[in-house]
Amino acid sequence: MLELQNVSKIYAPSKDNPVSAVRDSSLTISPAEFIIITGRSGSGKTTLLNLAAGLTRPTSGTVLHDGQNLWGLSDLQQSRLRNQKIGFIFQFPSLLPALNALDNVALPTIFSKQVNQSKEAVYERAFGLLHTVGLENKLKALPRQLSAGQQQRVVIARALMNNPHYLLADEPTSNLDEKTELEIMDLFQEIFQRTGISVVMVTHTSQLVRFGTRAIEMADGKIISDRLQNTPTHSHPISEK
Ligand SMILES: Nc1ncnc2c1ncn2[C@@H]1O[C@H](COP(=O)(O)OP(=O)(O)O)[C@@H](O)[C@H]1O
Ligand SMILES: [Mg+2]
Repeated sequence: MLELQNVSKIYAPSKDNPVSAVRDSSLTISPAEFIIITGRSGSGKTTLLNLAAGLTRPTSGTVLHDGQNLWGLSDLQQSRLRNQKIGFIFQFPSLLPALNALDNVALPTIFSKQVNQSKEAVYERAFGLLHTVGLENKLKALPRQLSAGQQQRVVIARALMNNPHYLLADEPTSNLDEKTELEIMDLFQEIFQRTGISVVMVTHTSQLVRFGTRAIEMADGKIISDRLQNTPTHSHPISEK
């Protein structure tokens, strides 16, 4: 389980102008949940996701990853835990432009000090994941040779490399047209249903809420609603690309 207990995050760019991005919020993310977080711009969605991932240290409150107090650990233990458990998809494009799809997926793991797998094993896994996301024939393509949707598929494959328990994604479809957005949502849903990995996704598109098993809404740094919903079905058949 991934638990936020009464977490707050205050950004204080100048001492007289502090911003309470997340205010005294608690959230438990269990295995096999597909959580969609919505809310207006500035409501604290990104900050909450970063707090859950351990990318941002809370001003107060506790973050537990499977019962371990993340910020009570050494830096090394902390990054090890994050590496093993969390796959993170940032809002802004993060593929390395000079690397092809396969290298973009494999290299972070190869250079990670925490993974002692052979280069061959890592590349084999990267290849398998690119197959999973429908890009097995784009292995050698550079990011600029891929469509926005295909680039996002590479990003998703990369986030799955370390076999995380939680896949956290910050507005992963915000740069996509509507059709591609639905294809990527179907991919997330397929990954969720096939692997049982917990997905936590931030979006400002309220039409995407139906994809989740749980819908959370934020306003002004707080969770203002949190409800379970029926397991959804695919919006349309998964495309080959
Ligand atoms: N690094 C930062 N420094 C100062 N203020 C920040 C920082 N990051 C976010 N904020 C502020 O915190 C609030 C919540 O931001 P954010 O979590 O990005 O919301 P959302 O993702 O819902 O748009 C906003 O008022 C934003 O301006
Ligand atoms: Mg945001």
